[in-house]
Amino acid sequence: MTKIFRINKIDENAIKKIKIVADGIKKGKIAIFPTETVYGIGVSAFDKKSIKRLYKIKERSHKIPLTVHVCDLKQVYEIVEFDERTKRIFEKLTRKFWPGPLTLILKKKKGKVPDEATAGLDTVAVRMPRNKIALELIKEAGPLVAPSANVSGKPSGTTIKDIIEDFSGKVEFIIDGGPSEIGLESTVLDLTQNVPTILRPGGISYEQLKKLIKVKIGGKKEEEKEEIKYSPKADVVILFGKGEKIKEFLRKEREKKKKIGAILISKINVKGIKIKKVKSLKEYARNLFKYFRDFDRKKIKTIYCEAVEEKGIGYAIMDRIKKAAKNKIKITN
Ligand code: TXA
Ligand code: MG
Repeated sequence: MTKIFRINKIDENAIKKIKIVADGIKKGKIAIFPTETVYGIGVSAFDKKSIKRLYKIKERSHKIPLTVHVCDLKQVYEIVEFDERTKRIFEKLTRKFWPGPLTLILKKKKGKVPDEATAGLDTVAVRMPRNKIALELIKEAGPLVAPSANVSGKPSGTTIKDIIEDFSGKVEFIIDGGPSEIGLESTVLDLTQNVPTILRPGGISYEQLKKLIKVKIGGKKEEEKEEIKYSPKADVVILFGKGEKIKEFLRKEREKKKKIGAILISKINVKGIKIKKVKSLKEYARNLFKYFRDFDRKKIKTIYCEAVEEKGIGYAIMDRIKKAAKNKIKITN
């Protein structure tokens, strides 16, 4: 019973499709939609029953709160309580980075977004995506709570193939807007702490934020650490070192192990190993989750990921690789 709509660009026909999905959402249905980071699986932010169903379908722990996706600032002011200082920082950030891959944690207004959506916390995550389909959908349906579209534990869905694999038959609507532009989730920035704190690196880099506000890098709160297990079925190993050394290392690994794959930014070829090459950090980010899932489908047992410098989007790439690798690290030189 899953209805799939393909949208290439926003025209009259697309708006018609979006309206059908929005009407469904208003009646309590679940819809998967594209954002610029990864696909989201969304329901109305105010609909407790659908929120509960969403947690079930995603197999998500109730301890992990959801993000409210908005299409204008008015929707934020309706659900969030501001003090003067936070409001100033919020305005500064949103003027520069919204719509875009930045999620902000703010103090929740009472009686608006239900506790079911925020794991009982007195804060709420808010984001304005820049994908036009997402914005149009929110305009029609109202604010949506939408975690990344993946069954918990798996990498976030960034292509329609991955989405169908996880959710076909389980949700009412899927909007296929093509592969995700960024490929990794948004940066989560907590504005309720004394100094704004990055809880998850993502589409907006630490360096970009630092130019605008005082910011620090922090860990996740205890109750949210559960999400950290998301990764492919294959073992992930991170490779540090120069290209030639990595090549030598992989050659030796090939002798010892079967079914190995690698995601590399250095221009290396090793016979007998499935290698996915990326030319830039952007391409690495965009394809990381897709490649994890491709390798799993090919029953690859070990995936070697070349390390990159933890700068810009490189910081988010390394964050996701480290989580997937559960800190299996090899120094090759
Ligand atoms: O790019 C993204 O953010 C994607 C797209 C669909 O927008 N969404 C996404 O949602 O990644 P999700 O639910 O998979 O991740 C949201 C993260 C989680 O790590 C969650 O713990 C954190 O945001 N979060 C949500 N509400 C929070 C809160 N009130 N306090 C602290 N962390 C929160
Ligand atoms: Mg997620």
